[in-house]
Amino acid sequence: MSETSPFWNRKTLMLITGASQGIGEYWAVEFSKKLAKDSVVLLWARSESGLEATKNKVLAANPGVVVKTHAVDLSKAKGSEFNSYLSQFNGSEFELCFLVNNAGSIGDVKKFAQDMNDEVEWHDYLALNVVSLATLTSSFVSLYPPSAPRETCVLNVTSLAAVEPMPSFGFYCVGKAARESYLKVLAKENPKLNVLSYSPGPIHTNMVETILTSTASSEIKSGFSAMRAGKTFVTLAQTTDKVIKALADRSYASPGRIDFYDRPE
Ligand SMILES: NC(=O)c1ccc[n+]([C@@H]2O[C@H](COP(=O)([O-])OP(=O)(O)OC[C@H]3O[C@@H](n4cnc5c(N)ncnc54)[C@H](OP(=O)(O)O)[C@@H]3O)[C@@H](O)[C@H]2O)c1
Repeated sequence: MSETSPFWNRKTLMLITGASQGIGEYWAVEFSKKLAKDSVVLLWARSESGLEATKNKVLAANPGVVVKTHAVDLSKAKGSEFNSYLSQFNGSEFELCFLVNNAGSIGDVKKFAQDMNDEVEWHDYLALNVVSLATLTSSFVSLYPPSAPRETCVLNVTSLAAVEPMPSFGFYCVGKAARESYLKVLAKENPKLNVLSYSPGPIHTNMVETILTSTASSEIKSGFSAMRAGKTFVTLAQTTDKVIKALADRSYASPGRIDFYDRPE
């Protein structure tokens, strides 16, 4: 157990990217249930209607929080825009400042690595999946550094693909590895930060549908098809329980890396 305050049930400023659907939508609702009254929940993604639907679910789950949506294309947004948006919130009013870097894309899984020769496609992929994570995290941590009694936590949604090569996942593997690497440096430079990369396991979201319909790899296709046929995908409820508990127990040293399939030590 950690020596710091309990993670949940504090007055929190929580920003979740990719909150319009999938894992981000689910976490916005479930995490918000565990926040104290007058916490502020910031929901970011491109789809305004998706964010509005998530906002309604969050408020139904916890009417005591304030929810603000922000429709933004993270692949195009500038670091200075993150700063000016976040500056409207005073970090000293919160016991926990919590950034959930969830937004992401799978990249073109119709291509194998040897065919990834389009520099524009590379730039676009990295802009969303690596650059925006780094610039947003930089803004967030600079504006809300850990300052006792306030805790600052950066949760990164990662994948087994960050540490294992997977055919047709060239963009995805590079992106997830780079995100973790940036956060490891950040954590090393800021020992008081709480940094966790959490790999949620395979979950049947729209991203997985894209893999099933588009991957150039028969190995990947048959693996995901078998999970669909056998109904062995990890459920949103299962993975959410695991990450909520990991944060509560602080069962890792920052920078932590936890996979859904890790067994308790
Ligand atoms: N599903 C899995 O099995 C699995 C496993 C391991 C890790 N993950 C990771 O979990 C995270 C969420 O994935 P998911 O499965 O929930 O996928 P998803 O259903 O496709 O959701 C992706 C989210 O990212 C947002 N997003 C995409 N492009 C964006 C952009 N340019 N600007 C702003 N927001 C953008 C989307 O919102 P808009 O389209 O509204 O912008 C959406 O809310 C990703 O980082 C993924 O790599 C997923």
